[in-house]
Amino acid sequence: MKWIFAYGSLIWRPDFAFVDRRRVHLPGFTRRFWQGSHDHRGTPDAPGRVVTLIQDAQASCHGMAYLINDEAVFRALDHREKNGYRRTSVTLHPEQPALAPFEATAWVAEPGNFAYLGEASIREIAEQIATSTGPSGRNDDYVYELAKALAAMGIEDPHIMALNDALRAIATNTEHTENRV
Ligand code: BEZ
Repeated sequence: MKWIFAYGSLIWRPDFAFVDRRRVHLPGFTRRFWQGSHDHRGTPDAPGRVVTLIQDAQASCHGMAYLINDEAVFRALDHREKNGYRRTSVTLHPEQPALAPFEATAWVAEPGNFAYLGEASIREIAEQIATSTGPSGRNDDYVYELAKALAAMGIEDPHIMALNDALRAIATNTEHTENRV
């Protein structure tokens, strides 16, 4: 049996069976919408943005670990995350202090991969996400769902909350503009 680290959509929508799950954090990394999405929340011509893990010695990325007893889940995630992600081994720290750190697999899109978009201002990222959509749905819904799931877990992630707020503001402005026409 092996653990998987979920820090994006797998937090609110794990599409596999799991034996156990645990709230965890990964010291030394932060969650950022810096990876391009050609095949889920955007297209090759108009990529969306999805999360990856970025090294940051001051940070810790909070998420969920799932215990998996089926190797097919790993192969399915390799396929699903083929747009620039690769499997990496990470050491997760359970939120429950009585539990010891343990190893898990995470899918990480590292700087320099073919779909990597990298750092941009919250405004630029939000404007790109607001107009992107792909086979898995609207890019802004991905941010809203992630923000909701993190809030439900009591996780404060300033990057995600700022993006959530920027997207809500863009949606409100768009509504007002459309109502005036
Ligand atoms: C996730 O945790 O949802 C995830 C993020 C990026 C790649 C694979 C899974």
